[in-house]
Amino acid sequence: MQLSQRALAVKPSATLKTSQQAQELQAQGIDVINLGLGQPDFDTPTSIKEAAVTAIRANEVDSYTATAGILPLRQAIADSLATKQGVQVLPNQVVVTTGAKMALYTLFQVILNPGDDVLLPAPYWVSYSEQVKLAGGHPIEVAPSASLKVTPEQLDAAVTPTTQAIVLNSPQNPSGIVYSKAELQAIGDWAVRHDLLVVADEIYGDLVYDEQAPAPSMLTLGTEVAEHTVLVNGVSKTYAMTGWRIGYTVANQQITTAMKNVLSHMTGNAAAVSQAAALAALTGDQTPVGQMNAAFKQRLDLVYPLLAAIPGFSLPQKPQGAFYLFPDVSEAMAMKGFQTTDEFVSAVLNVAHVAVVTGEAFGLPQHIRLSYATDSEKLRTAMARLSQFMET
Ligand SMILES: Cc1ncc(COP(=O)(O)O)c(C=O)c1O
Repeated sequence: MQLSQRALAVKPSATLKTSQQAQELQAQGIDVINLGLGQPDFDTPTSIKEAAVTAIRANEVDSYTATAGILPLRQAIADSLATKQGVQVLPNQVVVTTGAKMALYTLFQVILNPGDDVLLPAPYWVSYSEQVKLAGGHPIEVAPSASLKVTPEQLDAAVTPTTQAIVLNSPQNPSGIVYSKAELQAIGDWAVRHDLLVVADEIYGDLVYDEQAPAPSMLTLGTEVAEHTVLVNGVSKTYAMTGWRIGYTVANQQITTAMKNVLSHMTGNAAAVSQAAALAALTGDQTPVGQMNAAFKQRLDLVYPLLAAIPGFSLPQKPQGAFYLFPDVSEAMAMKGFQTTDEFVSAVLNVAHVAVVTGEAFGLPQHIRLSYATDSEKLRTAMARLSQFMET
């Protein structure tokens, strides 16, 4: 059996691989602390679950929905953008998808022709490069500045005649950095000048722990930038709903129509019950969101100084958003005699029993990613184990 070149070119997700290895050790009775996962450790808020159950009982979610999603949900997405960001969009600019992952996948399918380039400022989320390749495109890594933020000058050096888009993720997975409005404006203006599309992945937009909350959206930067932007977002992270699989895009009519056409042959529509749950999430009481954010902030305040103090771990800037830490561990690797981050990560798992993800998957191999979406007790223990690992 010969598999397609497309499938063979795709690397498996490094984050899922780490979790699998952690689970294997856990199954042997080893107490592994898994800091590899990219999802909130909270339950979906009760009011959201109740709304889903009510919709099931009322037979409201038994049938296919419109490919772009039910109108009340698309309206709620437009309303939430108006409330949080002061941005006016129409429900017919919104396409609801099976998670933001599917939103990105479908978007690359509709905007890329074979050989088209997409700029990926490093560090970048693991799936972008593989999804671009699956659409026949070429991911072009843009090396980061010391702040891990990309600048127009760096983009100037990286852009090619066949570049179609740049993917900008703020707040960023894996580093937790958040672009200021002025920094976003500079990139948006650059994209307008080059007539390129900005794929603005704002899935962590509500998870910000300073005065910038919510993180500024690319759509707030004026008509021209907005016209060159496709917003990608979803309910997974804000509402602890990763398993429900609801994401969305906000784009112009041309892209929206093409996305609907492609999706009509793929998923048809995102699961109707999940759409009902997402509608309840966006239109219901937002108190649980505040509570979860407060917990993330508390954990960040706890874990950041502990991590920054570990010998060989360098993390000069405290992250401002999402729920990840992305230290440079090149010194730690040298101290322990490891050549590759894979070997280092493997030793951390097998000796210190802490699961972390190699930065290789995010385009920066000298880093590792740790998620602090776990309770304070476990975080303290994990940091103690890492310190001990480095000191022995
Ligand atoms: C940066 C980024 N974008 C998109 C996604 C996809 O989110 P989902 O498919 O759960 O909506 C994730 C999930 O980890 C992410 O970290």
